[in-house]
Amino acid sequence: MNADGERAPAAPDNVDLDRPSTARIYDWYLGGTNNYAVDRHFGEQAGKQFPLIRPLAMSNRQWLGRVVRAALAEGITQFLDLGSGVPTAGNVHEIARDGADARVVYVDYEPVAVAHSELILDQQNATDWAGVVRADFRQPDIVFEHETTRRLLDFAKPVCVLMVSVLHFVGGADNVPRVIDRYRRRLAPGSWLAASHITTDDAPAEGAAQISALAESYRTTQNPAWLRDKAEFASWFEGFTLVEPGIVHLTDWRPDEPEALFPDLEPAAVRPFYWAAAGRVPQR
Ligand SMILES: C[S@@+](CC[C@H](N)C(=O)[O-])C[C@H]1O[C@@H](n2cnc3c(N)ncnc32)[C@H](O)[C@@H]1O
Repeated sequence: MNADGERAPAAPDNVDLDRPSTARIYDWYLGGTNNYAVDRHFGEQAGKQFPLIRPLAMSNRQWLGRVVRAALAEGITQFLDLGSGVPTAGNVHEIARDGADARVVYVDYEPVAVAHSELILDQQNATDWAGVVRADFRQPDIVFEHETTRRLLDFAKPVCVLMVSVLHFVGGADNVPRVIDRYRRRLAPGSWLAASHITTDDAPAEGAAQISALAESYRTTQNPAWLRDKAEFASWFEGFTLVEPGIVHLTDWRPDEPEALFPDLEPAAVRPFYWAAAGRVPQR
């Protein structure tokens, strides 16, 4: 506990403790401790609005692991994890570190997420091959030109760009296809874009109403959220060749049985609430 009775370590400079942040709420959903009273209060209310929110977050985190392992199996060893979050179970560099010469760059704009990512890489002596960029990924030039990105990633070779559970925080005046396109144009053939996104397309009426209400609640946080349907999600993969099994509910994307992470999670209930896909940059 810190002086304010918080479980999380003292907040880094510039952290907004007045409004909940999705990075810290998601950490709480996953059972982490890098969150503050304002985030836990939001998370508890979220659980009342949509009781599946914690298993849904866990199932998304399982998918992150599966897609990273799939990219590694295809020989990709470089990862650009956009909206990487607070480090928790199943971090990308921990999965990738067994890959020969793996390189990982985490990008987030939330100071707690960035501070703890820096800490964990330092503690694990991983800073030679993994790093953190504090940036808004809607500004790809800043991400690409950052010294950490330039030091660690070689864009002449395939890179797996991860946009996992982050694009529902891009909306309003922001143009998701344009942001994705600016990343795609920099990627070598064979690179991947992997994305997951909240949806209500196939949800039962009660769950759809609950998650829509929760999305409304996120508008009071630092990170307003948008729901999208399959057609809109699919349109973001134009210019990529979809990797098998294409655009499917996240739980159906190359499921692992049993899952090493959160092995007791029951996928059936959360199945309708996320789309997931990976697309490969074709040969030019
Ligand atoms: C729900 S968490 C997902 C974490 C991780 N990608 C995963 O799926 O396990 C969303 C993360 O995206 C970050 N984020 C959202 N919008 C962002 C933006 N425009 N630039 C950088 N980070 C962003 C948030 O701060 C948060 O850490």
